[in-house]
Amino acid sequence: MKKPYPPIYYSEYLHLEKLLTSQSPKSDEYGQPAHDEMLFIIIHQAYELWFKQILHELDSVLEMFLEDNVDEKNIGIAVSRLRRITTIQKVLIDQLNIIETMTPLDFLEFRDFLIPASGFQSYQFRLIENKLGLNPESRVKLDNKNYYTLVSDEHQKMLIDSQNTISILEGVDKWLSRIPFLKTEGFDFWNYYKDAVAKLIENEKEIITNNPSLTDEKREKQLKEFENTKEKFEALLDEEKHYELVKKGLKRFSYRSTLAALFINLYRDEPILHLPFRFLTYLVDIDELFTTWRYKHSLMVHRMIGAKVGTGGSSGHHYLMETAEKHKVFKDLFDLSTYLIPRSALPALPAELKLKLGFNYTANLNSENI
Ligand code: HEM
Repeated sequence: MKKPYPPIYYSEYLHLEKLLTSQSPKSDEYGQPAHDEMLFIIIHQAYELWFKQILHELDSVLEMFLEDNVDEKNIGIAVSRLRRITTIQKVLIDQLNIIETMTPLDFLEFRDFLIPASGFQSYQFRLIENKLGLNPESRVKLDNKNYYTLVSDEHQKMLIDSQNTISILEGVDKWLSRIPFLKTEGFDFWNYYKDAVAKLIENEKEIITNNPSLTDEKREKQLKEFENTKEKFEALLDEEKHYELVKKGLKRFSYRSTLAALFINLYRDEPILHLPFRFLTYLVDIDELFTTWRYKHSLMVHRMIGAKVGTGGSSGHHYLMETAEKHKVFKDLFDLSTYLIPRSALPALPAELKLKLGFNYTANLNSENI
């Protein structure tokens, strides 16, 4: 049988001609060849290729959240795409070791030729940040300017568009706010949780108060810490307080979404909640891995340029450390751990709800179907 498609040559398929002629060291152009500039170019290009793949995965996940009703079948696909992103991120972190084989002195051979170009202008990196849902208000400013004023007009438009389009954070917030099960007939998760927390808090206070091995001073200190935890729980238990934190930019999820995420985390062992739990966990992983990359990049920059300013004009590693602290996206999900209570303190779910949350095929089968 004749093959329906024309034969294709490996190099053509991969456009290797284009790819492998896309390295033009400036040091060669200016007649002062610097051996390590090739590595510097290739490593940045390799990063940009992986950024492209991350964007490809993020766009496909975003599409699933565009509809008003997320098709639950898609959560499994989203989980596998997010997992792929985290696997790529681990490679991105490791790749920094390659650039560290270049010494600071070797970098100086060609550094000045690059000014004012900088990774700061990587529009794909910024697109990833925006598509994940980095809050524009949290961005660390360079010279008091918006980050997008430092890229070309074409890239600026792409960045502003991505900022005005739904992000993963917003999509997840919408999806969580519609999750059922929080309140069904005869069950109100919130009341269950509040009771369990009240008992837990009372128990903890009693343990501190009656602990014979504590000195008065230590007991007082522990009771103070206990009051802090209690206050944090109270902020969660109070919708108004929650929205005060939203106004201050300290929380971004709606109150209902926060409760839904908490419910998923607490009852993750129920079969239907397992995939949503993994989905939320991968979002935290992605955030943590980007933060790890930012720290490692900042340390690498410190040893490479010391206290000098960056080619893009920032304060160098000080600026980068600040972004590592402030550019987290899913803080709401990180913070959830504050409100977790041990499984043993969790109220058992009513039998009817448990059935709804399980894969209860066998329970529904009658003997004729077996
Ligand atoms: C010799 C190696 C490197 C040095 C000295 C360096 C230095 C810097 C500095 C100083 C900044 C802050 C902006 C500025 O003032 O320029 C920056 C930002 C950045 N660099 Fe690098 N970098 C290096 C390698 C890389 C590599 C291999 C990548 C991979 C893509 C990268 C990606 C970025 C990104 C994405 C930013 C923006 C970070 C943010 O604003 O949060 N850099 N770099």
